Amino acid sequence: MKAPLRVAVTGAAGQIGYALLFRIASGAMFGPDQPVILQLIEAPIEKAMKALEGVAMELDDCAFPLLKGIVMTDDAHVGFKDANWCLLIGAKPRGPGMERADLLKDNGRIFIGQGKIIDAVAADDARIAVVGNPANTNCMIAASQAKRLPSDRFTAMVRLDQNRAQTQLAKKAGVDLTAVKDIFIYGNHSPSMFPAFAHATIDGKAAPDAITDSAWLQGPFCETVGKRGAAIIAARGASSAASAANALVDHVRDLMTPGAIHSIAVKSNGAYGFDANVWAGMPVRTTTPGAYEVITGYAMDAFAQSKLAATNKELVEERAFVAELIG
Ligand code: NAD
Ligand code: LMR
Repeated sequence: MKAPLRVAVTGAAGQIGYALLFRIASGAMFGPDQPVILQLIEAPIEKAMKALEGVAMELDDCAFPLLKGIVMTDDAHVGFKDANWCLLIGAKPRGPGMERADLLKDNGRIFIGQGKIIDAVAADDARIAVVGNPANTNCMIAASQAKRLPSDRFTAMVRLDQNRAQTQLAKKAGVDLTAVKDIFIYGNHSPSMFPAFAHATIDGKAAPDAITDSAWLQGPFCETVGKRGAAIIAARGASSAASAANALVDHVRDLMTPGAIHSIAVKSNGAYGFDANVWAGMPVRTTTPGAYEVITGYAMDAFAQSKLAATNKELVEERAFVAELIG
């Protein structure tokens, strides 16, 4: 029997948390032979802590063989203690009509505090995945507070966008989802993101050869993927939750699986023209469990370059907007 992994989850009683915890405990994230201890962190609000007790009762009632313990706390020092993975979901979500930029400062403060505490108390091998929006910039903020943990341990989620793009391409081409490969997301988890369709393949053919409607690829495809989050908020009255939790399972599972190729947002070192020190979505290959290398060298045509420049500009603006918070 392997030693249990300690998995800290913020916002554990929220919508994504509710769709996520049962999958972690069932083995979907770390595999069927990896026990876990869930360290559930909520805001210090009576209602949230009460809801968390209910979630923990349900986890108990599932009798998951891999679940070796549950910690419930509103103290991040307790919740992140010795954590091997820190899944940062807790944040104020965007409501109807709100722009992500409105959330930057409110949520930025949360990630300053959590970045410091994780750096102080999490395990030496700690990995951090940020979901709470604006995810890329929140991730940059948390990483900026770390002195012990290297910045490549901090990743933000763009996997939901990759999954959305894969489905849209499959629907348009009229093929099974599994026929679509190598669709990667570049840049910000926001409408400016770029799903790089030219490098995707569909049944082994380049996507632009399988879908010859280039106006659709450059227009409605990019827009549908980029604005899917807003479309779900408009329809549900709340932001995506089950699909976001599912994407986080994919994000972490693929980061733990050597050889997996997938999109995550990582600290830029200038690849694909992103400014150094913004966290931008890009394709990576997992090397050893939890570690990755950026896949460079995909050629970008003029259209792709203009999309990359636009999403980079937004990331740079977000960074400037929170510069005073970071100090
Ligand atoms: P939710 O409001 O249902 O839950 C958020 C939870 O976080 C609440 O229970 C709240 O009490 C808790 N919380 C707030 N501040 C906290 C703190 N400082 N420490 C610990 N817990 C705290 O929201 P949700 O639907 O679960 O969404 C969570 C976040 O995920 C939002 O920011 C949302 O925009 C984002 N999101 C990101 C993606 C993505 O693809 N990156 C997709 C969907 C949603
Ligand atoms: C999503 O992509 O579904 C969310 O990030 C939308 C949002 O702003 O909460």
